[in-house]
Amino acid sequence: MTETTTGTTPTAERTWGGGTGTPLLEVKDLVKHFPVRSTGVIRRVVGQVQAVDGVSFSVGRGESLGLVGESGCGKSTTGRLITRLLDPTSGEVRFEGTDIGSLSPRKMLPFRREIQIIFQDPYSSLNPRHTVGSIIGTPLRVHNIVPKKDVLSRVQELLEVVGLNPEHYNRYPGEFSGGQRQRIGIARALAVRPKLIVADEPVSALDVSIQAQVVNLLADLQKEFGISFVFIAHDLAIVRHFCPKIAVMYLGKIVEVADRERLYTQPHHPYTQALLSAVPDVGQAAVGGRRERIRLFGDVPSPIDPPSGCRFRTRCWKAQDICASQEPPLRTLVGGHQVACHFAAPPSAADAQASQAAVAAAVDGDGEVPLGR
Ligand SMILES: Nc1ncnc2c1ncn2[C@@H]1O[C@H](COP(=O)(O)OP(=O)(O)OP(=O)(O)O)[C@@H](O)[C@H]1O
Ligand code: SF4
Ligand SMILES: [Mg+2]
Repeated sequence: MTETTTGTTPTAERTWGGGTGTPLLEVKDLVKHFPVRSTGVIRRVVGQVQAVDGVSFSVGRGESLGLVGESGCGKSTTGRLITRLLDPTSGEVRFEGTDIGSLSPRKMLPFRREIQIIFQDPYSSLNPRHTVGSIIGTPLRVHNIVPKKDVLSRVQELLEVVGLNPEHYNRYPGEFSGGQRQRIGIARALAVRPKLIVADEPVSALDVSIQAQVVNLLADLQKEFGISFVFIAHDLAIVRHFCPKIAVMYLGKIVEVADRERLYTQPHHPYTQALLSAVPDVGQAAVGGRRERIRLFGDVPSPIDPPSGCRFRTRCWKAQDICASQEPPLRTLVGGHQVACHFAAPPSAADAQASQAAVAAAVDGDGEVPLGR
């Protein structure tokens, strides 16, 4: 490790979006396990999907945190826990200091207005039988945002804000393209003037040509209305332009958190280095000036029976014996950079070579990276 570690900094002192003061959102040791049941008449619980397993981060007012990781690492589950679409198994989700993780539906109601979600799929997230006016107007009515007589004009105003024709309030979702539908979803989220929006892969279902437009719209809205964002994505290219702070998840855990510049130029966790080396325009910087790609082999292990110690060890070219026996804590380096790795270090050209050698060994052998190499 090239930097002095200072031990784990309590998340309460940080606002991972980049500012100071009490965070708007503070997630502490958040856990969500889904029971796995046997088939048959008596459906006994035979295991737990450890979808989210001890995640902590915070987001300040008006700030954006990117949450990135491969498919199945627990990003959407984290987003649904923050918005209380799911109840946590344990841990805390503090919004303006209140732990909303166990509030009753009645007590939760005011927070539902403050915390909104934009879903990945603009096709299934809008009811095809409701007009755009009804989709955007319903939250206005439910939360009494404007008097009834003003709902239509407010809907039209919101359509204009997201770049749609205000006269189209009477149309149905099926009459819009994917990008336009996502704009409707954004207008619905904005309608209640939320303080926090969880955007769960909001552009991954859209054409590449449309993605930048929607991300730019979200960035403009974030600036204009001072909304905080948790922006979920499966690759580092999308969050790069939107989020000053980025958290990388692997198999239910956060493995690295850093501000954008540090993460892109000095990723310390082998998993982040591998993710970054796959992003074409930053790959060179991420592997210490060399173009070689850091390669990972194999699939993400099952979250029902994750590897002992470090969950990344079955795919890590740097793994040693300690990685199997001791889980690396998320340690804070100088500059607030956090990383969970026993051998955290900035990337070097040797990493690319070692990772490629590990891939070759796995192809020749049994698919496992030998420990203690
Ligand atoms: N309701 C559920 N019941 C059981 N397992 C679930 C449930 N929801 C999610 N999971 C499992 O939890 C893990 C994390 O899922 P999640 O949807 O949070 O991942 P993700 O990072 O959002 O993936 P993707 O990039 O594919 O959207 C996966 O193994 C998933 O199969
Ligand atoms: S703790 Fe070990 S296995 Fe995990 S990322 Fe670091 S070196 Fe790799
Ligand atoms: Mg998801």
